[in-house]
Amino acid sequence: MIIAIDGPAASGKGTLARRLAAHYRLPHLDTGLLYRAVGAALIEAGLPLDDSAAAVGAAESIDLSRLDAAALSRHDVGEAASRVAAIPAVRAALLDRQRSFGHGGPGAVLDGRDIGTVVFPNADAKLFVTATVAERARRRTAEMASRGLHADYATILADLERRDARDSNRASAPLRIAEDAILLDTTNLDADAAFLRALDLTDAALRL
Ligand code: DC
Repeated sequence: MIIAIDGPAASGKGTLARRLAAHYRLPHLDTGLLYRAVGAALIEAGLPLDDSAAAVGAAESIDLSRLDAAALSRHDVGEAASRVAAIPAVRAALLDRQRSFGHGGPGAVLDGRDIGTVVFPNADAKLFVTATVAERARRRTAEMASRGLHADYATILADLERRDARDSNRASAPLRIAEDAILLDTTNLDADAAFLRALDLTDAALRL
């Protein structure tokens, strides 16, 4: 059983994916972490983010069991991830990793930008989670402030708009809604309400 959750940055798709995975007792993969790991490897090596050979090398050597979500959550790593994610050879190198995670065993919940369109076009349930960019910026600002980090709403809004544009306009596997995905707009929902709605929609798609 494969559940595909896609959506733009800061849409809340990661939290929903984690909670759905716990509910259905499935493993969860945040595929953004793979692109973040590639971006982080290039930053660490002091290499330019358009060095596709180095980026593919980093993609091939990722150890899924050793991804450090906390270290990879850094803002500059997210930006770098969005840049290396536009390199088709990087996406190709990460495709099999994502598919093997889902195959075998009971299945999986994966979240990202192209799970329902490219990685698992035959997923059993597909959600596309979104919210207005203003609401996503508001949530990210509050989340950063709650962690004691400096958070400026206008800067975060501009960053999200730039990231949306880059993720949506790249030639290779751009962010878009799969034809058979269910749209979940969480603009006016709090986290618990969004989860209950996601659960209803997923149950219906899985005919549970
Ligand atoms: O979801 P995130 O912010 O951790 O993702 C970081 C970047 O990785 C995002 O800007 C685009 C890229 N990405 C992608 O292209 N495809 C995915 N399936 C997941 C992430």
